[in-house]
Amino acid sequence: MKPKFKGKHFITLEEWTNEEINTLLDVSKDLKKKFKTNEPTEYLKNKTAFLMFFEQSTRTRNSMEAGLAQLGGHGTFLDTSTMQISHGESAKDTATILSSYGHGIAARNCFWGIGNRYLREMAKFSTVPVMNLQCDLYHPMQGLADLMTIQEIKKDTKKLNVSIIWAYAESHKKPISVPLTQVLLFPRYGMNVTLAYPEGYDLPEWVLEKAKQNAQDHGGAFKVTHDMESAYKDADVVIPKNWGSWVRNQSDQVVDTLLEANRSWKCTEAMMALAKPTVSYMHALPADRENEVENVVIDGKHSIVYQEAENRLHTAKAVMAMTMGDK
Ligand code: CP
Repeated sequence: MKPKFKGKHFITLEEWTNEEINTLLDVSKDLKKKFKTNEPTEYLKNKTAFLMFFEQSTRTRNSMEAGLAQLGGHGTFLDTSTMQISHGESAKDTATILSSYGHGIAARNCFWGIGNRYLREMAKFSTVPVMNLQCDLYHPMQGLADLMTIQEIKKDTKKLNVSIIWAYAESHKKPISVPLTQVLLFPRYGMNVTLAYPEGYDLPEWVLEKAKQNAQDHGGAFKVTHDMESAYKDADVVIPKNWGSWVRNQSDQVVDTLLEANRSWKCTEAMMALAKPTVSYMHALPADRENEVENVVIDGKHSIVYQEAENRLHTAKAVMAMTMGDK
């Protein structure tokens, strides 16, 4: 494993070229194979990463902690409510000090208007790579695992019809970082990406412009629709998922009149029947079952959600091995 990306921050895939992302994917595949065959992969022997969480997590926390152990290193889980951050300690002081104790800092901070800025501030002062475990804008660990999963299932991603579709949910007001990451990344791999959502659930205008530019630069396509059915029609991959109306409304309130007006935006068997017979159903998880998606779909033959979630482990290990490792 070459220290090709040693010290490089992993805050958004927009700052990683396709060639660099392809290297991360190659390493992910190799680590997946070695995990299945129990081959040792101690590329981070005696190395430490600090894993700061401002929010809850199942996949991200555990793929990072398990991944670090499997790479021969150690992950320190930090619930930020128990850190001096909760008494106002600055990102600068936290990053400077943690980076003097270890080899990587990773953080999840999804607060609207704050999360990405917090990570950037840490990256300015950290002497070790800063990894984004999801912020208000980006979820690059998820995007990388999603791309790996699509490549595994569909092989060639060029001209693949991929629909990212808003869905109704009541569990919490979710960040826009998953669809935002996907609409920027997938057109760079030649996919025909459709973003579908009811009026009011917009992504920022600059994201739509950048997604179009990425499509133009890499032979993909990108379009926006407010018609759910048309997004399912002839799709090769559907990714129906809830996100909050953050761009237009910064309130934390989960259920409001706009949300309730869009209960019909659910991934059902009838919607799936509009897609190609070989369609794959994806979701970053956790899913709000029976609100975002019918159980018969998420547990059905088109669903690849567990493969997608498993790939979070292999891709997280690749990012850590390549940015923190020195072999
Ligand atoms: N998809 C994802 O990031 O899952 P967690 O919130 O459980 O980490």
